[in-house]
Amino acid sequence: MKGVVLAGGTGSRLRPITFSMAKQLVPVANKPILFYGLEDLAEAGIEEVGIIIAPQTGDEIRRTVGNGDRFGLRIEYIVQDEPLGLAHALKTALPFVDGDDVLMYLGDNLVKQGVADVVRDFKSDRPNCQILLTKVDDPSQFGVAELGAAGEVVRLVEKPSSPRSDLALVGVYLFDNSVVEAVNSIQPSARGELEITDAIQYLVTSGRDVRPSLVTGWWKDTGKKEDLLHANELVLSDLVEDIQSEVIGGSMRGTVCIGAGSRVVDCDITGPVVIGANVHLVRTTIGSNTAIGDGCRLADANLEESIVLDDAEIHGWKLRNSLIGRGAELHGSAPAGFVEVTLGERSEILGE
Ligand code: DAU
Repeated sequence: MKGVVLAGGTGSRLRPITFSMAKQLVPVANKPILFYGLEDLAEAGIEEVGIIIAPQTGDEIRRTVGNGDRFGLRIEYIVQDEPLGLAHALKTALPFVDGDDVLMYLGDNLVKQGVADVVRDFKSDRPNCQILLTKVDDPSQFGVAELGAAGEVVRLVEKPSSPRSDLALVGVYLFDNSVVEAVNSIQPSARGELEITDAIQYLVTSGRDVRPSLVTGWWKDTGKKEDLLHANELVLSDLVEDIQSEVIGGSMRGTVCIGAGSRVVDCDITGPVVIGANVHLVRTTIGSNTAIGDGCRLADANLEESIVLDDAEIHGWKLRNSLIGRGAELHGSAPAGFVEVTLGERSEILGE
């Protein structure tokens, strides 16, 4: 079985962060989202992976991920010229798949349980397609599956305005080579994309065996800031303490990780919190569910439930539910209370 990981698209819902970086490289608990999926594929015994990239952000993905050695994978890159849909991305990858079974993984998804179990089930039961489903509160944001009385897949609809079930399609799909016929038989949807839901619906309608399985652990599509912060919280809840730097004064509670070469002076930290390498933190309070990337500088600040990317600087601000881009800066006299900020790469806010 081959893996196809989708890391193209535009990331429009995560702007301004994604004006300058691929959304699949935005870090969750200080690790690019995309790495979690690649680790899942390696753990499931998949060796060959094709990563779909967009012309605009593909080079950064190639540089960051490399040839796959660090994951124990052989990785090839496949350029999708335009983001014409998930089924279009898979169609673009068909020469790489070369008639093999394929697991398609959306590069902005996080699946707590990994994919080893579904890969094992697929290999032993040999359906034509296996999909993962999970109950959600807002099904109209997702592909939605309707199941029949015997639990069989009856209908799949992409982002329906009146969903007929609360079962969302998780971004992990397994196919045998009948998917070739499916992606070549469907037409673009009303929004102009070749939808993977339509390709799977084609398999259902043509009598193929499409198996649903329910996701047991949590699952997150990190397409929006709120989801990204929630994913950060979920991943940090499994954090294992690892402090590699000097901590002088202050206090520390809960699980905390601090990378090498950092200096933490007179700070109050309540985990779970992950702090990268070469970070300087002075007289700063860090509340739970916060991730601070490498090389950041924070002084007299207060931060909680937030993600700060590498090399950002924060002086005097109190931030909650915030997403601060690489090398962004907040200084000057800050508002008195907590504020919620999303700041793009190398942007600067200078308080009055
Ligand atoms: O996350 C699960 C949902 O993912 C499913 O429930 C939906 O059925 C499915 O259509 C998809 O919906 P999204 O709107 O979240 O898909 P998005 O446009 O965010 O794309 C998912 C990933 O695929 C993302 O990493 C970008 C990449 N992509 C997307 C398109 C449209 C590509 O590589 N090429 C593309 O053409």
